Amino acid sequence: MKVGVPKETASGERRVALVPDSAKRLAEAGVEVAVESGAGTAAGFLDEAYEASGAKVVGDAFAGADAVAKVQQPSAEEVARLGDGQILIAFLQPLVNGDLVRALAERRVTAFSMDSIPRITRAQPMDALSSQSTVSGYKGTLIAADHLPKFMPMLTTAAGTIPPARILVLGAGVAGLQAIATARRLGAVVSAFDVRPAVKEQVESLGATFLELDVEGAEGQGGYAVALSDDQHEREQQLIARHVAESDAVITTALIPGREAPILITAEAARGMRPGSVIVDLAAEAGGNCELTKPGETVVENGVTLVGELNLPSSMPLHASQMYSRNVWTFLNHLLGGGSELTLDFEDEITRETCVTHEGKVLKEPVAA
Ligand code: NAI
Repeated sequence: MKVGVPKETASGERRVALVPDSAKRLAEAGVEVAVESGAGTAAGFLDEAYEASGAKVVGDAFAGADAVAKVQQPSAEEVARLGDGQILIAFLQPLVNGDLVRALAERRVTAFSMDSIPRITRAQPMDALSSQSTVSGYKGTLIAADHLPKFMPMLTTAAGTIPPARILVLGAGVAGLQAIATARRLGAVVSAFDVRPAVKEQVESLGATFLELDVEGAEGQGGYAVALSDDQHEREQQLIARHVAESDAVITTALIPGREAPILITAEAARGMRPGSVIVDLAAEAGGNCELTKPGETVVENGVTLVGELNLPSSMPLHASQMYSRNVWTFLNHLLGGGSELTLDFEDEITRETCVTHEGKVLKEPVAA
């Protein structure tokens, strides 16, 4: 069994799918690891570290690999380099990337999507959505702190007393909870809202206030939120607007799998914030939770800074890669069934739920919006 680790080609991507520590563990298990020269450099993992771990540094990590481990979905050029029976492991987002999935099926690639790992206890070490959302949530709060013209903590100084910043976090899943924890560590007063009532306790355990908005949300399959009805969505926007206006910074993280992110902050609500306020929209990749967010850009509207930065995990590539690599390594181990050769067991929930294409068939279709 040979695993190839190509250098990421997506613009701005600094992560690498396997770090030397995971390469070493695979090598110890009898798996050959071939890493493209320079693949880990942007994340702080040099070729020498891979060589020391027992991996081979090569010019082409696709050639002869039984499995190719990547972070980002492959480009068209990379898809063309994959062949019959080759395994691909990456973030593929099959629910929104129909063309990519069909192209992989046509090449008869067996593709596994790291964003489809089921949210079950035994799959937690493979849960790449969680590991990367942890990075995004942390970074989201730091970005808010950086753009705020204020301190986050309360300060009592000879030059006067500074009140703490008020931070609102919308969506309290993995990223939201990490954003809350980070803002609390920086001394801010934090409140949060999520449509899943189950998160109230988690929010409070981090020292934040859970907003009791009269909005009826629900938890669907896998613990994810289901989209609100139009009525409830509008009600949520109205109820949130007041809290947005009172906040110094809002960090939004609300997502519904396979859909555009819900708009929680209308343009009017964003413009209603005090000048100098900040909105960090961690849902920008899925369109954004604020009507004024421009994905990929930071803009100022009416004195309010709106941050729509994309791919925040790539901005902390060392730990993001280390965590993702642990997810990939554990998943590979799962596919290897404790040995050094692949045994794909489609009776197994993790293998079945994560597999997107196999033997020319598409196993996961995009959902209708
Ligand atoms: P996500 O990234 O899909 O969504 C982020 C948050 O936005 C969610 O908490 C969701 O409820 C919320 N949201 C959606 N629409 C909203 C709206 N209109 N207003 C306010 N909030 C809204 O979620 P994530 O972070 O991937 O977590 C989803 C669930 O999976 C959570 O229950 C989490 O605890 C659970 N989970 C379970 C794991 C396990 O058991 N292995 C591991 C990780 C997460």
